[in-house]
Amino acid sequence: MAEKGLFCGTNRPKDPANMTEQEKKHMPVIECPDTVTAGEPFQVKVHVGAIPHVMEEGHFVQWIDIYFKENFFARVELTPKFTRPEVTLTLERHSKHKTSTLRVIERCNLHGQWEATKEITVS
Ligand SMILES: [Fe+2]
Repeated sequence: MAEKGLFCGTNRPKDPANMTEQEKKHMPVIECPDTVTAGEPFQVKVHVGAIPHVMEEGHFVQWIDIYFKENFFARVELTPKFTRPEVTLTLERHSKHKTSTLRVIERCNLHGQWEATKEITVS
């Protein structure tokens, strides 16, 4: 059964240094360079979560979105049983800003949206 309270907004760990098991199963894990070059492609790998999330018919990760700050870059939609909540995308930054916040949001059909962020320096 869906936990309705988790569908009120986007969830983040209450204490990132001491996450609960549910938080570990839902927080996206982001792997990408800390520094990228403007206009050069780089890879971002995301998986959900530090404890792998199940992909069963009644409980699965529906999609993974990638943003830089408020700007949408990509969405990957997933199906249960036949996919794993893992994606690798090639992105480029053309920003004049020296730092940029990569935001990854995933949605579990029972436990709502979860967001992880990573600061990236653009040189
Ligand atoms: Fe879940």
